[in-house]
Amino acid sequence: MDFDFTPFPVLETERLTLRALNLNDAKSIFGLRTNKEVNEFIDRKTPRNLSEARAFIDRISKLTSANKGVFWVLESKSNHQLVGTIGLRNFEDEEDYAELGYEIDPSYQQKGFMSEAFDVVLEYGFNQMELKTIEAFTHKNNTASIALLEKQKFVFEPEIKDEGFENNISYRLKA
Ligand SMILES: CC(C)(COP(=O)(O)OP(=O)(O)OC[C@H]1O[C@@H](n2cnc3c(N)ncnc32)[C@H](O)[C@@H]1OP(=O)(O)O)[C@@H](O)C(=O)NCCC(=O)NCCS
Repeated sequence: MDFDFTPFPVLETERLTLRALNLNDAKSIFGLRTNKEVNEFIDRKTPRNLSEARAFIDRISKLTSANKGVFWVLESKSNHQLVGTIGLRNFEDEEDYAELGYEIDPSYQQKGFMSEAFDVVLEYGFNQMELKTIEAFTHKNNTASIALLEKQKFVFEPEIKDEGFENNISYRLKA
């Protein structure tokens, strides 16, 4: 699969602009990735300071420039705040396959924002990138994430394991 994320594919929804991450986002990214509620079901390394948040942004920018991942910031159209992120990565694992990751600030949850972001990212993944399978791994007790995935017609795959994350379950959506 040969993807090209230059120029960056900015996506629009009714209330959100999905744009590239940049170093001006360091403070917001630090806040989001260190938020206890956001991290409740996510097993990941959190930045300890702004400089680690900047290093994360740098890694994401390099991944996107190398066309190995695409990571959008969810920016609210009404107040221009960074409210969440969504991304596709791990392309090389399987043919026409990508893994989806997503998070949104607690004060913006349960307002339909991530459903809006999913609509345009899934459309982009299946129609522009021509993916055949998009997978999301989620903690088995992450009811919010499971509700979102099921609403988006992802299918639970009981046979699939997330190596190294024994509490995660797999949901897949096929083109
Ligand atoms: C999972 C998450 C992204 C959902 O985002 P969101 O913007 O709140 O989702 P939406 O408002 O679009 O809701 C989508 C559906 O899920 C349901 N839902 C959302 N949060 C829910 C919750 N806490 N409990 C039950 N259902 C929930 C909504 O009711 C909606 O279904 P409906 O339209 O039938 O009512 C958000 O909770 C989050 O960022 N959590 C922390 C990070 C995380 O766990 N990311 C996933 C890692 S795999």
